[in-house]
Amino acid sequence: MSALTSEWVAAHMPRTARAVAALPDLTAVRLAMSMHLDFKMLPLVEGLAARGASLFITTCNPTTVRDEVVARMRSYGARVEAARDMPEADWNAAIAAGLDWGPTHLSEMGADYTHLLMTSGRTLPPVKAGLEATGSGVSRLKGKLPPWPIFNWDDLPVKEGLHNRHMVGLTTWQAFFSRTLLSLHEKRVLVVGYGTVGQGLAASARAFGGTVMVAEIDAARALQARYDGWDVGSVAELAPRADVIVTGTGAHHVLPWEVIERLKDGCFLLNSGHRIDEIELAPVLERQIAAPIPFVTSHVLPSGAKVHLLAGGAMANLTAGEGDSLNAFDVTLAVMATGIGHIVGDGEQASAGVHLLPKSAWETAL
Ligand SMILES: NC(=O)c1ccc[n+]([C@@H]2O[C@H](COP(=O)([O-])OP(=O)(O)OC[C@H]3O[C@@H](n4cnc5c(N)ncnc54)[C@H](O)[C@@H]3O)[C@@H](O)[C@H]2O)c1
Repeated sequence: MSALTSEWVAAHMPRTARAVAALPDLTAVRLAMSMHLDFKMLPLVEGLAARGASLFITTCNPTTVRDEVVARMRSYGARVEAARDMPEADWNAAIAAGLDWGPTHLSEMGADYTHLLMTSGRTLPPVKAGLEATGSGVSRLKGKLPPWPIFNWDDLPVKEGLHNRHMVGLTTWQAFFSRTLLSLHEKRVLVVGYGTVGQGLAASARAFGGTVMVAEIDAARALQARYDGWDVGSVAELAPRADVIVTGTGAHHVLPWEVIERLKDGCFLLNSGHRIDEIELAPVLERQIAAPIPFVTSHVLPSGAKVHLLAGGAMANLTAGEGDSLNAFDVTLAVMATGIGHIVGDGEQASAGVHLLPKSAWETAL
């Protein structure tokens, strides 16, 4: 946990402390969680364990796991099946083990448990309700819903409007600056995707001195990007002009090889979306020629141009940086705690299907 102590984390997350203190007794709850195993999750996991919950935890993304966080969570009594950069087979086995463990409730970031359950013909565990934190997870569940309610909290104004919109951009560029020792001045930055994450990436890039271009396939959002003052076009058209390209879509191969082949010499590639394959990585990785500085690899293209990849294409702000500030993540984690309070209480009575986490559940977190 670098130089951070859990006391420092807890001291700067007062909303989370209040939300955890308001949770009911959880001794009958078997909660399977899938999440980024970052040190900022510790106050919630510690609090859930202290209220008697049985916890099974795996990651929603092996590249963001902090092994010291895994150890700390185990010390609270949680069963944690995760390790930094664990192979995909081990990760899939961990998700299956979480289902075999017999959870009564699920708290997910990317719907890994539910997706496996609904696509594998397994016997359904005794789940009463679930929580989903990501837009990627909600869209993954379309047409594959289990017979219990799932509460989506990604679309809440406090998650989307604060964390996605304000923190991901800021912390992605922080990671870029600290890992490359460069700034964005005099650089043309292409942001791929103009959801709340893309909007924050674009606004922060300008605040830090970059010239911003946006590629977005949704016509309404592309228009919004124009109204916001950005140079808007397709990835194919804009990428060859970029010095830095950042993806934030949750979609597959939004920066495809046929575009990467035409990039400028010295272009930086990074991703802050949920999926590691937002950039078509395989042909890039085959052409690695150097690892000049930690977290940065250099790759030579067939044209002879060199491009630099941050954090191997994994979520830059979480893999190569520290993610949100403690005070901002405090809001997110407090809302998550209230969401858990909801799924172990009134939420169990809701109909099967995806519901937005009700305001009555989360507003007490603010
Ligand atoms: N790094 C982090 O800490 C962090 C935090 C929150 C969310 N996320 C992730 O960031 C991603 C974006 O989140 P969001 O809330 O903005 O989602 P969103 O769904 O609101 O926006 C994504 C946008 O990408 C666009 N898009 C999809 N494919 C595209 C393509 N090929 N070219 C151009 N645009 C394309 C979509 O049209 C959409 O407007 C998700 O994967 C989310 O899970 C990351």
